[in-house]
Amino acid sequence: MKEHPVPAPGDFDRMWAELAAVGRGAEGGYHRHAWNGADTEARAWFVQEACARGLDVRTDRNGNLWAWWGGPGPGAVATGSHLDSVPSGGAFDGPLGVVGALAAVDELRRRGAARSRPLAVVVFAEEEGGRFGLPCLGSRLTAGEVSPERVRGLTDASGTTWAQAMERAGLDPEGIGPDPEALARLDVFVELHVEQGRALEDTPHPVGVAGTIWPHGRWRLDFTGRADHAGTALLGGRRDPMLPFARTVLAARELAGRHGARATVARVEVDPNGTNAVPARVTAWLDARAADGDVLEKVVAGVGEAAEAAAREHGVASAVTGESLTPLVEFPEGLRDRLAAVVAAAAPTPRVPVLPTGAGHDAGVLAAHVPSAMLYVRNPTGVSHSPREWARPEDCHAGVAALADVLQDLLAR
Ligand code: GLV
Ligand code: MN
Ligand code: MN
Ligand code: MN
Repeated sequence: MKEHPVPAPGDFDRMWAELAAVGRGAEGGYHRHAWNGADTEARAWFVQEACARGLDVRTDRNGNLWAWWGGPGPGAVATGSHLDSVPSGGAFDGPLGVVGALAAVDELRRRGAARSRPLAVVVFAEEEGGRFGLPCLGSRLTAGEVSPERVRGLTDASGTTWAQAMERAGLDPEGIGPDPEALARLDVFVELHVEQGRALEDTPHPVGVAGTIWPHGRWRLDFTGRADHAGTALLGGRRDPMLPFARTVLAARELAGRHGARATVARVEVDPNGTNAVPARVTAWLDARAADGDVLEKVVAGVGEAAEAAAREHGVASAVTGESLTPLVEFPEGLRDRLAAVVAAAAPTPRVPVLPTGAGHDAGVLAAHVPSAMLYVRNPTGVSHSPREWARPEDCHAGVAALADVLQDLLAR
């Protein structure tokens, strides 16, 4: 890589500022969703940055980008995250792990770090499911955890299918599917991510280590009634799907509260969505998470029962359909402790926090196939999936240094 000079330490800030301009809406949130213009621009930006460093960039069959230091090969250490966002998402969820990975490679090169195995920086496609509804599609496809036929047929709000969108982005949707060879190359995967809570803020630590990811999933709720006139249809004679829907949202909240779980209904489609027409149909999505799989099951079953009872009362048909489920992820203890020990060397106290999270990640999908781990960077607002998501620049730099230390340790093994 002699012909490619190593960028100076401040290059993280330049990269961060450049990427921060891609896909940002007037309200300050990001709108980078699988294969849309902003996503394509962000991916092109990554390819350019990786090539400028002399990394060998490849796009895999599922549209994930791999930038290799030393060329693809077995026994690889991989790091990275995603560039897509939730609708009106924050700047850090995903990009911190990608920009941080490139900056960590720069740091390793500046250190002249010994490297006995290949290193890859990966950008996973569609982690958030912000456009097609299912999360972690790049990693799930690669891991064989979702069928290619199902993914090709997923539609966005305008009716465009994944296959059409991928094709418009210049990629071949017919080629998507399990990629055991890609997984077999990896010895370990480490994802740097902004903390999506406020646990680190109350400690002196800018960087923590992931312990577990709560079991979580998405369920589609359908309520089908009968459209009618808002001014003339007698209240008693209506079959209004909005009413059992509303009751179900409240039931989800109550059940989650009772069981120490999380339940969120944040995406709703109303048909025909007119102010003066009783709706014919309400479709919504339940996002539910809990520390324990049995508790999650109990909450979702309870929501289903509440939906059915409320629907019956209002003469409405209801259905609950599971769309995705990620079981409990316990990052391997040995790897986790190793990361914590490496991070501790530069930490304010030796007790680096190990944190559970309710947020899903590609690292969680990969963990079932490849030893995986995560580092979290402190988020003073504690808010994520919102423009208020934040991390101080100095904490981001600490995250990059911690990632470089961890990679250096893993590469030398
Ligand atoms: C993704 O970030 C999720 O946890 O929903
Ligand atoms: Mn996210
Ligand atoms: Mn993320
Ligand atoms: Mn996520």
